[in-house]
Amino acid sequence: MKKELVEKINRLKQEKKAVILAHCYQRPEIDEVADFVGDSLFLSRKAAETDCEIIIFAGVYFMAETAKILSPNKKVLLPNLSAGCLMADMINLEKIRLFKSKHPGIPVVCYINSTAEVKTECDICATSANAVNIVKSLNSDKVLFVPDRNLGSYVQSKLKDVEVINYDGCCPIHNNLTENDIILAKKDNQKAKVLVHPECSKNVLDLADFIGSTTGIMNYVKNSDEKEYIIVTEIGVTQRLRRDYPNKKFIHISNKAICESMKLITLEDIYNSLINETFEINVPDNIIKSAYKPIERMINLN
Ligand code: 13P
Ligand code: SF4
Repeated sequence: MKKELVEKINRLKQEKKAVILAHCYQRPEIDEVADFVGDSLFLSRKAAETDCEIIIFAGVYFMAETAKILSPNKKVLLPNLSAGCLMADMINLEKIRLFKSKHPGIPVVCYINSTAEVKTECDICATSANAVNIVKSLNSDKVLFVPDRNLGSYVQSKLKDVEVINYDGCCPIHNNLTENDIILAKKDNQKAKVLVHPECSKNVLDLADFIGSTTGIMNYVKNSDEKEYIIVTEIGVTQRLRRDYPNKKFIHISNKAICESMKLITLEDIYNSLINETFEINVPDNIIKSAYKPIERMINLN
């Protein structure tokens, strides 16, 4: 049944000249129909480069919106419209304007996990993979960082000459992980390397052997001879690592580390999305124009 569905999707994809981009937090079976699977930075690049007619985004709303901004002449589809991001929802146009008004004249770095409207108020975007370099590139002694205070604080810890002023938002999934979760996981796996995503809080980052984005964590495993790892990020990363490295042991930090929103999209949703060309993501022209600049600036810097 699943095999048939995968085949039907792959056939339809070719007929319709569609490309499927999938984030690593998606259900692992989505990889069987995806053209590209990766983290936010990789997928933004692919969305900008592709010459297809339709982009199906297996991810959350802000990712599909970013794809539309980068490829305004393509049809961008999000197979399940309820797939939102709790962190992106923590800031809106009114809130970012208020934040900027309290700190006038300071460049604003916007984590890609934000709405198109919020991006229009920012100077440059960043992802967890490039945030340190993006902030450094501004050559400013102060920057505003929205909306993830944890990623902003991590950037601050790496750049002593810059004052990073953080907006008070976070990813609740990563932020809810605690030192105790790590201590518990370490108890039975003393030798395991602790790999942590920078959306986690400082107390958790302090216990890490390595801090990195989704791709950073995956590359760490690829290039390491260690046999055991504690994965301190969303479960999709742990599942893919277990699949790709069957001879290594991966301990998933906690059942709290599951982004329900990222799990909403199913293979059936993707099939329906291709057949009906739903759900189309549209962004008003004036927002595309202003939100394109900070995203393009980020892409050009890497
Ligand atoms: P990255 O893909 O940049 O690691 O981001 C993690 C995330 O939370 C995506 O929603
Ligand atoms: Fe948003 Fe966090 Fe889910 Fe990523 S993991 S989509 S930041 S809520």
